[in-house]
Amino acid sequence: MEAKFPPEPVMTDVTTAWDDKFCDRCKMMSSSIIREILKFAQMPDVISFAGGLPAPELFPIREFEEACAHVLKTDGQRALQYSMTEGYGPLKEALAERMGKYGVTTGPNNILLTNGSQQALDLLGRVFIDPGDVIVTGKPTYLGALQAWKVYRPRIVGIPVDDEGMQMDALEAALKTENPKFIYILPNFHNPMGVTLTLERRKKLVELAAKYGTPLIEDDPYGELRFEGKDLPPIVVLHRENVIYLSTFSKILAPGIRLGWVVAPENIVRKLVLAKQGTDLHTSTLIQMITHDIVKRGILKAHTKEIKRVYGERRHLMTTSMEEHFPEGVTWTKPEGGLFMWVRTPEHINCMELLETAIENKVAFVPGTVFYPDETGLNTLRLNFSNAQPDKIIEGIARLGRVLREAIG
Ligand SMILES: Cc1ncc(COP(=O)(O)O)c(C=O)c1O
Repeated sequence: MEAKFPPEPVMTDVTTAWDDKFCDRCKMMSSSIIREILKFAQMPDVISFAGGLPAPELFPIREFEEACAHVLKTDGQRALQYSMTEGYGPLKEALAERMGKYGVTTGPNNILLTNGSQQALDLLGRVFIDPGDVIVTGKPTYLGALQAWKVYRPRIVGIPVDDEGMQMDALEAALKTENPKFIYILPNFHNPMGVTLTLERRKKLVELAAKYGTPLIEDDPYGELRFEGKDLPPIVVLHRENVIYLSTFSKILAPGIRLGWVVAPENIVRKLVLAKQGTDLHTSTLIQMITHDIVKRGILKAHTKEIKRVYGERRHLMTTSMEEHFPEGVTWTKPEGGLFMWVRTPEHINCMELLETAIENKVAFVPGTVFYPDETGLNTLRLNFSNAQPDKIIEGIARLGRVLREAIG
């Protein structure tokens, strides 16, 4: 008898209770409030300072177009094939050379290409964090790191961050008693605060890390976006193989390509490679080759210069608008680079609640509390200054000023 096609479906009346099947780890996964806020922020009449988005009009679209055509024409078969987990060799070499210019001595075997730095954070969690391990972060710190690591169930010890970066006295007190697996540090134009760890504190950090034998993870997506002041040495330059260094093309080229890199001692790269193999085999060959082509064309220097010019102007515009519109009792950081500014309101203001009024008034920000491992910091908020056009910055800050004045009374 000939088989029927398509076959008769097998009829059952079973409904799987999928919610009961999730593993315990899933309990640690919460939807990022930023994603929820972005839904509102994307409404056409809302001026959003919420997302960490670069200025899209600066994306080098023509260069991507040319590089893509060139790669496919000259090496298309390789570009569309599976490739090594470690990353595309020529790009690793170019990155090693580039890092060398910043004083970071490294070779291609010390580099792993990842799907953005976000993947690097997850891989580090996989290879380093056992349940109950203590890890040290800033308080506040990058939300994406908290999200990536919470599923591995560490105990997160948050160290206060002020206008000069992480506070070293508090760090030493924690190192004395906690024996953490690592310290996670955002030295340049901190997300969310926009502040930079001073040279003095960098030296102290390295001294403490050496004294207590605690390794460091240095996350540096914004280091190349300094529009004011002087560059400071990366922590990895001061403390070499005791530091795992992360960076990304997200802010100097485009976040949509999802391309970041880790610099670490070879044995760590090998472990991360094993962890990455089980996740995605490798980062897109095509994207790595296109990016390598762009890097080779030598446009990055002029391109980052232009990004810095635009972001510097926008930061300046935002601060002058804040001086004009924000009421007394509200203070803010004055970043010398990066994408973010940090606002402190009087203690009695709950910025989570303030956000609702702000959205009603068609302006959005991220309440600072989401960046605190212990969910404190209710009277703080983060503003992004890179994404909105100048006229929107002026209007958005005026709206936020009205919301703040009403709340503070
Ligand atoms: C401190 C920090 N680390 C990592 C990331 C993730 O960057 P990527 O786009 O490379 O995944 C971000 C993105 O905003 C960030 O601010």
